[in-house]
Amino acid sequence: MKQKLKFGIIGCGAVAQIIHLPILKKNQLIEISAICDLDKRKLLSVAEKFHIEKTYTDLQKFFDENEFDAIMILTPTNTHKEIAETASNYCKNIFIEKPITRNHKETKELQHSIKKNHANVMVGFHMRFRPDSMLMKSLIEAKEFGDLYLVKAGWFRPRSSMQNWFVKKTYSGGGVLMDLGLSIIDLAMWMLNYPEVFSVTAHNFFITTKDVEDVSVILIKTKKGHVISMEVSWLLSNESEWFYFNLFGSDGSVFLNPLRVKKQVGNSHVNLLDQSRSVTSNLYLKAYENQIKHFVAAINGVGKWVSTIDEALSRQALLEAIYKSAKLNKEIKF
Ligand SMILES: NC(=O)c1ccc[n+]([C@@H]2O[C@H](COP(=O)([O-])OP(=O)(O)OC[C@H]3O[C@@H](n4cnc5c(N)ncnc54)[C@H](O)[C@@H]3O)[C@@H](O)[C@H]2O)c1
Repeated sequence: MKQKLKFGIIGCGAVAQIIHLPILKKNQLIEISAICDLDKRKLLSVAEKFHIEKTYTDLQKFFDENEFDAIMILTPTNTHKEIAETASNYCKNIFIEKPITRNHKETKELQHSIKKNHANVMVGFHMRFRPDSMLMKSLIEAKEFGDLYLVKAGWFRPRSSMQNWFVKKTYSGGGVLMDLGLSIIDLAMWMLNYPEVFSVTAHNFFITTKDVEDVSVILIKTKKGHVISMEVSWLLSNESEWFYFNLFGSDGSVFLNPLRVKKQVGNSHVNLLDQSRSVTSNLYLKAYENQIKHFVAAINGVGKWVSTIDEALSRQALLEAIYKSAKLNKEIKF
């Protein structure tokens, strides 16, 4: 049997404990060799819960005493660049939870180190790996909807982390745009094959926050003529989480959450698929499982590297323009 891939995990907080560690433990192709966190108490309790022997509070020791096939960086966003740069000296396969860094400048510098060290980076965008969004993407690739012209999307839910760093710009890089907005931007740009952007217009609100935005409304126009219209907000309770992602083309339209597919036949719309009755809550976990499987396939050379640092850089440039538009209250052209 093929040897298991040796994974090193940096950061044992919420996203590691709730999502990644349980999924990694179930994957037969992976062995968690060691974990690292600055918080010793948390580190030891995570090690006990997930039966992991080697624990480190010192990142240098973590790398010096182990040989890893893959590293996962699950720490606060302000630490991603420095940790990823160090990691790329020791390991060629790196997964970084989104957002890759706080801003475009940091991502550009990281891209330089990653390329110099011939490392591969995959940024975590689990939305791409939802079974319904993967089906949506394959229908788009098959040209089922003709010429695409509009993405209308939104996500309203409480913030992903209640930690203080999450609402401090110097740590997180931004608010709801970094948390929920980035996932929608990535999904929309991925569905449209990352077209060049023509302009962005945005408005940010600070309803309950001071340092980072908690509501954002954005319009992105591409040079191919698509329009992406989206809104994201932290101001809804857990029970009423609301996510929608609708895509319109000359020959039909497709809606996510639940997945529905409509084709234009003459003057009417015909329902090709309607998953309104299926449960959508499992899709979240399935998406994270698929994402890890894809990371493993890319490491083993049987899958393509996706959600790369080059894509991350163009996404960060877009995000920078969105913040600029909101600040100057005007359309920003590329
Ligand atoms: N929580 C979510 O649902 C979620 C979803 C998607 C992405 N993310 C992203 O994942 C990352 C982690 O988020 P989180 O919610 O788990 O944060 P968290 O604050 O719960 O956990 C971060 C952990 O990293 C540790 N840490 C901090 N600096 C470190 C360092 N230099 N070396 C080693 N460990 C260090 C902390 O002690 C803490 O245990 C962030 O970039 C976040 O944006 C989180």
